[in-house]
Amino acid sequence: MSTEKQIPLAKGHWLFGSLKEMNKDILGFLTKQRSQLGDIFHVDVMIFKIIVITKPDYIRHVLQENNKNYVKSFSYEVLKLFLGNGLLTSEGDFWRKQRRLAQPAFHKEKLIEITRQMSRSAEAMAVKLEEVKQKGNEIDITEYMNEVTLDIVAAALFSSNVDDKMETIRHSLTVANEFAISRIQHPINWPLWMPVKANRDFRNAARELDKVIYNFIESRRKLKQHPNDLLSMLMDAVDEETGERMSDLQLRDECMTIFLAGHETTSLSLSWFWLLMHQHPEEEQKLHDELKTVLNGRTPGFADIPRLKYTKQLIEESMRLYPPAWTVGRKSLEADEIDGYKISPGQNMMLLTYAVHRHPDYWDEPDKFKPERFSDENVKNIKKFAYFPFGGGPRLCIGNSFAMMEMQIVIATLAQRFKFCRTETHEVEKDALITMRPKGGIKMKVVAV
Ligand code: HEM
Repeated sequence: MSTEKQIPLAKGHWLFGSLKEMNKDILGFLTKQRSQLGDIFHVDVMIFKIIVITKPDYIRHVLQENNKNYVKSFSYEVLKLFLGNGLLTSEGDFWRKQRRLAQPAFHKEKLIEITRQMSRSAEAMAVKLEEVKQKGNEIDITEYMNEVTLDIVAAALFSSNVDDKMETIRHSLTVANEFAISRIQHPINWPLWMPVKANRDFRNAARELDKVIYNFIESRRKLKQHPNDLLSMLMDAVDEETGERMSDLQLRDECMTIFLAGHETTSLSLSWFWLLMHQHPEEEQKLHDELKTVLNGRTPGFADIPRLKYTKQLIEESMRLYPPAWTVGRKSLEADEIDGYKISPGQNMMLLTYAVHRHPDYWDEPDKFKPERFSDENVKNIKKFAYFPFGGGPRLCIGNSFAMMEMQIVIATLAQRFKFCRTETHEVEKDALITMRPKGGIKMKVVAV
């Protein structure tokens, strides 16, 4: 064993630790600590001690090499209130079994049918944006991206018959998401059983969404022939080892998880993308050139995906600068050692995606938008785990191919018709909550290409 090294501590208040600085600007504060203290340090937040890690090799250790020793950290407890025991929040053998059952539904070839729906939803969004363009209004692009990604994930789960439920779904997910954020921001909270307004609203939203999902499951069970969507694939999946299928409760938890995990991140990624395009006209022109060559005005489909190479590079670079999942949280089960640093059992950790993606040791001009980093030629020089917007190891995002295809299709559809122009001049602030959102949204005008 190597000699033990001391993990440096970020200086903070004797009682509150770094609570104030973290609440004010968590990304700025932690990035500064990284440059002063190095790639592993700890911060105190009142009674909690959190180790922050920003070195790709250490991240690989936690997510991959010794992943069995690390479980999800406390922020997932909050998500559990809503998502139950779905893929994102479950652990151990239960998670392994669920992942085995769900994995085939996300294989690339299974996604062909879903890409058709992605194109339909993107086209419907284009019609809406055409109206906005005609009226000359300014919109918050995050709302529109949220709508199109929610539409896509709902259709992917339940096929086409979701339109009349969309309003309930949208409202319930927003309430639940805001509730989870508020509980993470204010760790001292009303217990869930207290009849205060926030708790009541949350319970009502969860109940409404449960009703929608259970209705889908029930009516699906009555159908002789199942449509080709994620719900069918999850319902029909049989565990090879036990011969069991998912119970209704498991199906509910997985649907809820896919709903939430499957639209918010993608919607944010698209929103940051449009901001970057507005800020980088040269790259935007190259995007238009590629779309002209590959599609020439056509709606993109599954076969076009591998040909939209530059579009993909733009998306990858935009997720480097603005990773929607800006941190991955873990907690150690047993004592461990990372490069001579001792990790105690029960230690909470933040694997700080945002800082790794902008780390000067692994990226030249790290804050600069340079999509060519992801060209076929250059991508092999990127160090493993210096780029991990979808996490890594066995708990790698199950929807990563889904998300990449979705973003390529939505972008290729919309960018053939519109540009999004920002009129405000102040910098868009990053709000790092559960995901990294643009503070106050991004106000943009829709104009013709
Ligand atoms: C740009 C879009 C997306 C980003 C940035 C993203 C990011 C992530 C990350 C970082 C994780 C790992 C979390 C951890 O290890 O603690 C994760 C897990 C997960 N994601 Fe995504 N995701 C995206 C899109 C999607 C989509 C479209 C779906 C489903 C349709 C999805 C479903 C899931 C699920 C179910 C998990 C849990 C997997 C498991 O633990 O087995 N995600 N995602």
